[in-house]
Amino acid sequence: METIGIIGIGKLGLCFALNLERAGYAVLGADVSDAYVNALNEKSFFSYEPQVNEYLTESKNFKATNSLTQILQSTAQKIFIMVATPSLADGSYDHSQIERVTDEIIVAGKTESKKHLVIGCTTMPGYCDKLAKKMEAYNYSVSYNPEFIAQGSIIHNQQNPSQILIGEADANAGDAIEKILKLLAVTNPVVCRMNRLSAEITKLATNCFITTKISFANSIGDLAKQSGADAEKILNAIGSDARIGNQFLQYGFGFGGPCFPRDNRALKKFAENVNADLPISEATDKVNQQHLEFQFETMLKENSVDEKIIFEGVAYKEGTVYIDESQKLLLAIKLANAGRQVVIRDSKKVIDEVRGLYPDLFIFVER
Ligand SMILES: NC(=O)c1ccc[n+]([C@@H]2O[C@H](COP(=O)([O-])OP(=O)(O)OC[C@H]3O[C@@H](n4cnc5c(N)ncnc54)[C@H](O)[C@@H]3O)[C@@H](O)[C@H]2O)c1
Repeated sequence: METIGIIGIGKLGLCFALNLERAGYAVLGADVSDAYVNALNEKSFFSYEPQVNEYLTESKNFKATNSLTQILQSTAQKIFIMVATPSLADGSYDHSQIERVTDEIIVAGKTESKKHLVIGCTTMPGYCDKLAKKMEAYNYSVSYNPEFIAQGSIIHNQQNPSQILIGEADANAGDAIEKILKLLAVTNPVVCRMNRLSAEITKLATNCFITTKISFANSIGDLAKQSGADAEKILNAIGSDARIGNQFLQYGFGFGGPCFPRDNRALKKFAENVNADLPISEATDKVNQQHLEFQFETMLKENSVDEKIIFEGVAYKEGTVYIDESQKLLLAIKLANAGRQVVIRDSKKVIDEVRGLYPDLFIFVER
């Protein structure tokens, strides 16, 4: 049984590890917290992500460790790095967690047989090429393999990709990654192999396209509402055009979450770095903010001052527990700050987090 190493078994990495284990690999996953690693090994860790608890309980060949050295000393030839890449104030990604991992790999020294590092984190275009140069002397190749998944359906998305994107170090590394991901997929995904830089741009540009579609739908919807037309009927008709498609073309809340807004901004920042003009990602962001303002003004008009306004869930996406850049929550905050009584009905996890940030702003109801 082949062993695969994963460094960073958080929201994304843990799902990937469990999926790989189910696909027939022995998986060794490293993370930093002893308590987390122990909980995973004792199978007492609880996740809100669908299927994770069940897959963890049933797993036989997944082991967590707090020692990166253990992964380097194992038989794993392919090591996925899935640590976090938070956004910096200028919109670019902070690669310092990847750097800490790769610095540790460098300190461990050159490997006898070639090993493949696969970066699953979202990175700024150009980063993986720089990293590859650095790791070459230590006999590690570096490929880039981002995932197109959404919180609340990570396991399912990893098993059902429509496309696999590989920024390959070379054909051998590309073949190896393709083999692993195809084994994991129950669909027959289109495999898009290219160099690292192109793949890094593709990852950000894909999310930029989706956010553009969402912003387009919301601006046409706002226009319809403003003029007394039927937003849903208009958007449904537009999306029924086979060239366009209905996905992400509904009238609703703007885009949020841990990926869409960040990838959109990072693409704009990358364009600036190479002196390219990319007004589309800026416009998409601006429309998202304008739409929030439109929703706010509309709700102020549609609800009387003494009426309670009820929000059924304020996570960025229905069925998740994350509030990163949630447009729903931003709207609730604006309404409450404008003196309206706002009720938030959500899970204990979301309520605890929102209450921690805004202790006196809302009326909370656990569901
Ligand atoms: N979660 C998503 O929806 C999603 C979707 C697409 C892409 N991504 C990208 O995937 C990457 C990981 O995202 P995530 O949401 O899983 O982040 P996360 O914060 O949930 O997980 C990262 C994990 O890495 C661990 N880690 C950090 N430094 C480490 C080290 N030196 N050694 C071992 N472990 C270490 C952390 O403790 C954490 O558990 C990011 O680049 C993110 O942008 C995430």
